[in-house]
Parts: sequence; C-alpha cells; structure tokens
Amino acid sequence: MNVLDSEMVVASLRKRGYSLTDQLEEADTILLNTCSVREQAENKIYSLLGTLREFKNEHPEKILGILGCMAQKDQSLVFQRAPFVDFVVGPGQLQAVPELIEKAQAGATRQMAVGRSRTDGTVEQVKRTHETFDPLRDPTMRPTPFQAYLRIQIGCDKFCTYCVVPGTRGPEQGRPPAQVVSEAHVLAEQGCLEIVLLGQTVNSYCYQENGKKTHLADLLKQLHEVDGIERIKFVTNYPKDMTVDLLETIRDLPKCSPYLHVPLQSGSDAILQRMKRGYSVQDYRDMMDRIGTILPAAAVASDFITGFCGETAEDHQQSMDALREFRFKNSFIFKYSERPGTSAAGRLPDDVPYPVKQQRNNELLAIQNQISAEENEKFVGQVVEVLVEGPSKNASRDAKEGPIQQLTGRTPCDRIVVFDGNQRQVGKLLPVAIYDNLPHTLLGNIVTQHIGPDVTSLQLS
Ligand code: 5AD
Ligand code: SF4
Repeated sequence: MNVLDSEMVVASLRKRGYSLTDQLEEADTILLNTCSVREQAENKIYSLLGTLREFKNEHPEKILGILGCMAQKDQSLVFQRAPFVDFVVGPGQLQAVPELIEKAQAGATRQMAVGRSRTDGTVEQVKRTHETFDPLRDPTMRPTPFQAYLRIQIGCDKFCTYCVVPGTRGPEQGRPPAQVVSEAHVLAEQGCLEIVLLGQTVNSYCYQENGKKTHLADLLKQLHEVDGIERIKFVTNYPKDMTVDLLETIRDLPKCSPYLHVPLQSGSDAILQRMKRGYSVQDYRDMMDRIGTILPAAAVASDFITGFCGETAEDHQQSMDALREFRFKNSFIFKYSERPGTSAAGRLPDDVPYPVKQQRNNELLAIQNQISAEENEKFVGQVVEVLVEGPSKNASRDAKEGPIQQLTGRTPCDRIVVFDGNQRQVGKLLPVAIYDNLPHTLLGNIVTQHIGPDVTSLQLS
C-alpha cells in the first residue's frame, strides 16, 4: 500500500514539473513515506530524522515532509520530536502534498493534513477525511512498467487488537467498481500485463450502489474482460471472507492467479481470540479445505505474530503445529510490537520478553523455510509460466560478457524464478523449465520450442 502511495505522490508531483532523485544533496524537497505497523519502522524514521536535523539546519530552504501512517498516528508529536519538519500528511490526505509544498516554500511552517480519528464524528464524516488518492497513473514510476498495484479498498474495519491500521487508514471503503475497471484499462493501455489488487482485507471488498452490491468475485469478472491484462493477483485476504463463490470465481477465470495470502497470525485459539481475529483454527482449517477442493494448485501464504500478549509455550507450539499442517508457500513472521492506540495496548500486557519473541520467531522461520524448500522442490522438472520482471539481484554481481544475463520473474502462484535470458524478454510471459530450487527461488531455463520431428507440446503448470 505504501509503495503505491509513494508512486501516486511522485506521479502528482511529476505532473507539476518535479523530477525524482535519490541524492539528498540534489533534492529541494524530501518526503518520507512512513509505516507504523511495528515500532521498529517508526524508530527508523525518527532516527533518519535525527540525521536530517543538521542537513535541514544547513539548508533551511529545502522542504521536508512526513507522509503516511506514522504522520497520521503521531500528528503533532512529529513536530515535537523533529521541529524542523515542514509538514505532516496522513495516508488519506496525500492529494494535499503539492499544495503543502508550495505553502511551505511560501513560508508556512508545521502544516498538518491528517484524517479525523475514528471517534471524531459520524462514520461518513470520518470516511470523507480518509480519501483514496489515485490520480492518473505514471507508468515510469512503477518498478516495472508491465506490473501495477491497483487499489480497490482503503481502510479496515476488522480492529484486530494489535493493529494500528484501522486507526491510521480509517474506515473500510470499497472504491467504485467502474473507477477500478477504468483504471485497469488505463494500465492495460500503458502496457501493463499484471495487476495486483490492493486492500487491507481485499476479499471483504464490497461496494454498494443503487441497492446493488459488488463483491470481489464480481469485480474480478469485470477486470477479467480488460484486454491486455493477463494476470490478476490480490492481497491481502481475511480468512472469514474466503467464500466458495470467490474461490470458484478464481478457478473459472484463467487470468486470476492461484496465489492467496491469507494471514493466520497464530495457531492458538486462545491467542486468536485475544487478537479478535474472528475465527478459530478450525475455521481456518475449513477454509484451507475449501481452497484444497476448489483450487488444488493454489499457493497459500500467511503472516504470523510471535509473542503476542500472554502467549505461552503451548500457544507457540500450536503455531508451529499449524505451520506444519497448512504448509504455506511462505509466511511473513513478526515479533509482536505494542502499538499505542490499539485495544491490546490499552488492555493486554505485552508480557512476552523480547528474547522469547525472537526465539519463537526464529523457530517458526526455520520450519517455514524447510516447508518452502520442500514445496519448491515439487516444481523441479515442471514447466511454469513466468512473467519476466528484469535482471535478478545477482545479475550485476555475476555480470557476464554479452547480451545474456540472469533474469528474474514470477509464476502465477507468486514463486520467484531465476534464469538466463536477454533484455528483450523482460515484460514477456515465457515458459521456463525448472531444474533446481532454493528455499525461496526456483532455478530454470527458458523453454525454446523446436521445429522439427522432435517438436513437443508445452504443458504450462
Ligand atoms: N506487531 C507485530 N506485527 C504486526 N502486524 C500487524 N500489527 C502488528 C504488531 N502490532 C503484522 C500482522 C499483519 C502484518 C501486515 O503485520 O501479521 O498481517
Ligand atoms: Fe490490521 Fe486486522 Fe485490519 Fe489486517 S484485518 S489491517 S491485521 S486490523
């Protein structure tokens, strides 16, 4: 979500003649887009602000803005901790950035544009201060021109007890389907092959107009009709909203990737209840069974939090058991970080010592790595369809003479594949034969078709 927000802000500034630099000395405006999901992310920003203090002293004419969730959450606290910051903008007010810069250039100090807190007015009033900011897209701002994020939902109403997002990104709001589809057409015209639909609980997407409700399954059907778009992914899902209708829609629409990121968070019912996740491990198991029946080739990924309030060794054991049972393609594993303003912070003591959180984190990671490697191993000998993204991380390190270089791309189920190829293959969907694997990467060769008696038909999986 933050990557997309940054893309949007840069696009809106480019239209006003700005250009982007990653050199601090060259910049006349410095914008930090921030995250507040865990304390560590905020610490990084405050520590960066510490190093920017002197720079801003030496160059008071340069404009410094703090964007995103930390800005929304801390508001004037940012100015208390870093008085040299020119403005603070929440994620629902990003459309104000160009104007705030202009005003700062004209001498305005300590400007603040943030959304209302969730208890400050009616839901409708609060919603209006957490707007979606999706101006016309600038293809040059994307990591690759043929892939794009497309926001379909903002905010979250789930209120998991540990999570700051319902506070920083405001109430859940689905974007009108017509707007989403027209943005997909713009992206397709720009050469985009893959769109990744974004929402905090993307499969809870719902938009109501004239008494008619549009759910994610309906939206997928509409997006599937967009010529030029070849792949559709969506993140992140909420277990309870993974309906049979949605799964059958994914099964029936070839452009929909069978990749489902559906965070479990913990394998203990007691912890899930304390997190207010709204499901039990058995509910999650039922969902996995539905996925297994309807989409047997689906890759399911998860998130876990270790050391949540009151987590015992037994609770942790249950998370390890769940990992082994569900065999996720991959899991993002985080140590619990108490966040001010969340209901856990007010009520539940953060009582698992940091080294225990760390230890449990490492244990889950070790199990997941082994499972990821075993699941990847199953691809060896298969041909997969890869959307070629560009040179791999090692491409420059292992630079070879000539046009051949190491490329990277992803399968429909979001597995990373590394193979040799050339620049012209970037942005293409190609068959790649897998000959080996690492825990998080498949190694392959692009399949070249032979014309002649030994011609083989390619089975893409
Ligand atoms: N501490 C640790 N991890 C968190 N997450 C959300 N809030 C917290 C927190 N306070 C994790 C969840 C979520 C992912 C985006 O971040 O696992 O799915
Ligand atoms: Fe946070 Fe829960 Fe909403 Fe996800 S579903 S954004 S974890 S409150």
